Amino acid sequence: MHKIEVTDLQVDYQDYNNRNKHVTALEGISFTVPAGQFVSIIGSSGCGKSTLLSVLGGLYLPSRGKVSINGVPVTGPGLDRGFVFQQYSLFPWMTARKNVAFGIQQVNKRLSKKERLKRADHFLEKVGLEASQDTYPDQLSGGMRQRVAIARLLAMDTEILLMDEPFAAVDAKNRTVLQDLLLSLWEGNQEDRVFPPDQGIPKRERKTVVFVTHDIDEAIILSDRIIMLTPSPGRILRETPVPFPRPRNRTVLMQSSEYMHLRKDLHTLFFNDFGSGI
Ligand SMILES: Nc1ncnc2c1ncn2[C@@H]1O[C@H](COP(=O)(O)OP(=O)(O)OP(=O)(O)O)[C@@H](O)[C@H]1O
Ligand SMILES: [Mg+2]
Repeated sequence: MHKIEVTDLQVDYQDYNNRNKHVTALEGISFTVPAGQFVSIIGSSGCGKSTLLSVLGGLYLPSRGKVSINGVPVTGPGLDRGFVFQQYSLFPWMTARKNVAFGIQQVNKRLSKKERLKRADHFLEKVGLEASQDTYPDQLSGGMRQRVAIARLLAMDTEILLMDEPFAAVDAKNRTVLQDLLLSLWEGNQEDRVFPPDQGIPKRERKTVVFVTHDIDEAIILSDRIIMLTPSPGRILRETPVPFPRPRNRTVLMQSSEYMHLRKDLHTLFFNDFGSGI
């Protein structure tokens, strides 16, 4: 179980047009994600959501403040953290199943090649791509490529999942399937673990998830808590708990007055503050 702590985070980028100037992408960001919690980050385009995930992933170091995981400062990427990037991040020279199998190899050297490929096929099937195992990324559609990246993340079974608008390019039907799959994995579905129980590894508990989305409904359905950021430079506008019990039946939930009230509240906050669309 992994807890994430972000303290007074600031990220400055060098200005594209003037090397002597800096652009502040994030400012004064402090929050904690308790182990096993599912947190969504919402905010307008350019407010620093991807930047925040990159810092949590150890891919970019903050200009000020710090990020720690279970009390240990993040200084680079780690095998405890799996990432789905906003842009597809598959190796173009590997087929779909090799991309997934390669991810599995990074986190578990004990599995044989045969076991890795079997596990890769299992997850490609779960994201509906069993017919595309031997296809290369540039022969897949954008949404299909993103599904391969999601299959790889889930197959890696890391303690922390960092997901940057993972379902944005996926059609509505597949999006629902993938959301349910993600929730099942997050809750510790035993069948899908890298280490089978007979290897003496304790029963999996919930993963810790930081999930970026533009979709308020998606954030409510999936999350325990929603953090809304202000436009650039991103600061925390509000943290909103999502109190609905799990497992959540989305059809029943979305028709409840509590859901509609929360949704309206978040929409109002977003549009009043930002004055523009998501
Ligand atoms: N490598 C970089 N160098 C300079 N500026 C950058 C760099 N990466 C991001 N930025 C700037 O930092 C700000 C935040 O960018 P970021 O990609 O984190 O936003 P975002 O919230 O993920 O946006 P979107 O919703 O469009 O994906 C933007 O103003 C962007 O132009
Ligand atoms: Mg982004």
